[in-house]
Amino acid sequence: MNIQTAEPSTGRPVEIAALMPPAHIRRIVLTGFMGAGKTAVGRLLAGHLGWEFLDLDDSIASRAGLAVPSIFAAHGEPHFRKLESEALASALGRANIVLSLGGGAPETLTNRLLLEQTPATATVFLDAPFAILYDRCMLQALNPGATARPNLADATAAQQRFAVRHPIYSRLANHTVDTASLSTEQTVATLLARLHLPKPRRR
Ligand code: S3P
Repeated sequence: MNIQTAEPSTGRPVEIAALMPPAHIRRIVLTGFMGAGKTAVGRLLAGHLGWEFLDLDDSIASRAGLAVPSIFAAHGEPHFRKLESEALASALGRANIVLSLGGGAPETLTNRLLLEQTPATATVFLDAPFAILYDRCMLQALNPGATARPNLADATAAQQRFAVRHPIYSRLANHTVDTASLSTEQTVATLLARLHLPKPRRR
């Protein structure tokens, strides 16, 4: 909610939310479909802020002692979603953290409630059209050591998931950044400006 006050010299209305210091945000959570750049953006953003970076999929894998595709293969998606909610609840207990979620996390109601009810948490939707995201994922899959994405194996089913999730990401987010034509660095710079955080110094 943005409360209004007036600028003393001009009497012009000013939104108090726009004046709040950066200190009010203690967690930045990145959401979006597979290929949105959540991990790359999150890592760079955390490095800039001097905050911890956590990729929720990595956290799930290390808690389970099993890689994400193996959890899907051995126990199925519903079990993965249960582990995901547990890992999210634990991660949101930390402060000064940038957290990148897996693309399906916001579909679970428990996760949305956790995100909405954890104070000082800014949720950011990294948006782009499905075709761009799919191509990015196909390129990433060529990297040696890339983690497989079980929910991308069937392109038509993936597009249907995208259509279901898109309004969920939009509604949940405090901020949406269209990343279709932005590099990782440009996305981070856009986010810092939106969240009223200091811009990176040129080295
Ligand atoms: C999933 C996205 C993946 C991972 C899992 C399921 C999804 O994360 O959580 O493979 O359902 O969209 P990324 O969005 O980081 O690829």
